[in-house]
Amino acid sequence: MEKPSKIAPAKGKLGVLLPGMGAVSTTFMAGVELVRKGKSQPVGSLTQMGTLRLGKRTDARSPLIKKFVPLAELKDLTFGGWDIFKDNAYQSAANAGVLNPQDLERVKSFLSTIKPMKAAFDHDFVKLIDGPNIKKGKNKYELALQIKEDIANFRKTSRASRLVTCWCGSTESFVKPEDVHSTPEKFLEAMKSNHPMIAPSMLYAWASVTSGVPFANGAPNLTVDIPAIQRLAHDNNVAICGKDFKTGQTLMKTILAPGFKARMLGLEGWFSTNILGNRDGEVLEDPGSFKTKEESKLSVLEYILQPQLYPQLYGKMCHKVRINYYPPRGDNKEGWDNIDIFGWLGYPMQIKVDFLCRDSILAAPIVLDLVLFLDLAQRAGMRGIQEWLSFYFKSPMTAPGLYPEHDLFIQSMKLKNTLRWMKGEDLITHLGQEYYD
Ligand SMILES: NC(=O)c1ccc[n+]([C@@H]2O[C@H](COP(=O)([O-])OP(=O)(O)OC[C@H]3O[C@@H](n4cnc5c(N)ncnc54)[C@H](O)[C@@H]3O)[C@@H](O)[C@H]2O)c1
Repeated sequence: MEKPSKIAPAKGKLGVLLPGMGAVSTTFMAGVELVRKGKSQPVGSLTQMGTLRLGKRTDARSPLIKKFVPLAELKDLTFGGWDIFKDNAYQSAANAGVLNPQDLERVKSFLSTIKPMKAAFDHDFVKLIDGPNIKKGKNKYELALQIKEDIANFRKTSRASRLVTCWCGSTESFVKPEDVHSTPEKFLEAMKSNHPMIAPSMLYAWASVTSGVPFANGAPNLTVDIPAIQRLAHDNNVAICGKDFKTGQTLMKTILAPGFKARMLGLEGWFSTNILGNRDGEVLEDPGSFKTKEESKLSVLEYILQPQLYPQLYGKMCHKVRINYYPPRGDNKEGWDNIDIFGWLGYPMQIKVDFLCRDSILAAPIVLDLVLFLDLAQRAGMRGIQEWLSFYFKSPMTAPGLYPEHDLFIQSMKLKNTLRWMKGEDLITHLGQEYYD
């Protein structure tokens, strides 16, 4: 990819389109408004709080990322979305129960104005929920065209100069890439013939990309991770990324596992279990949706630990992931990890992690960063898969034949070096010999 010669300024409003207005979406929108009102801090957001070093350690140049690259400002964000339920964003946030009533009250009038558009939904893909706010059409192509119309209308009514879509809808049933996903032409035919392997999230992806709108996928379903949509993204000069926000347990995994590998500590097994009680947890009770999530969660250790390179350390590791729907916990998930490692001479040790986390509190700043960085990439003329945004995903998308980088610290370096590269600054290698010359 060529280095951007110029990045267009972030002029005008940035419209954020959210298919799925549940816990994550509403926590994100409420949070942006609370920060805009000066009532809270954007904790967890690299674009809002992060800095990056430029030049040598002795240069003392560490600007805020948002000052270094031209990002849209929070005041310029405007929101729209789709859901199968008719609840406005305030009602939906109240149902999700993530934010306390006091915080919600402060943004009630703002959230109440955000009403979901009718969703393109297929019960076969999300079996355990159903709702009344659903589009009708002869076939999937008609539904996709209706989404395109929604996007065009939103562009007009919101007076946004640019748009970004971020899938925050439920996890769909497991789908493997098939022939119908291989080219834009086959994909179009498959939509017209109502092919069962075309998931609703793919319709949003198709509509968005063919409308010139960048797309991020926060769930583990394929969505934009198929050759047909990637080709369209390339041809329409649209930036895309995914998949599956990296939040609680997987975030911890991609922090700990690189450490074990760096110190050549062995791993015999890693057992992860979760209890969660939000709607996401309810959807994941269905084996089809769970399979999609499981695939996404399991791949991480294989890629980080590279058992093919270190068979004595990782060749026999046993990795299991369980998710249990347990309503009393709501959005406050508990993730337990039992890690069986071994050290010098093969002596065994155990590590236990008990992360009492808040799913949507961890996911909301990721949505914000993805929206702002995708908009930046789009203005810089970067099209197709944005691998530098791997930092935010459990199953980062990559070019065909490339294995994904899961190590959070490699991902962080990749992201920051991409920003330096975009602005023509020296990349940081951490070699550091020059300080000793
Ligand atoms: N919260 C996290 O930490 C986290 C981490 C990784 C991934 N995710 C993923 O993010 C997504 C959102 O999570 P959440 O906790 O907000 O879930 P949620 O159940 O609260 O919200 C999802 C919303 O999507 C709606 N929906 C389902 N199908 C739709 C369709 N076809 N069109 C429009 N709307 C549709 C549902 O009605 C629901 O309101 C899930 O797929 C989840 O797996 C969340």
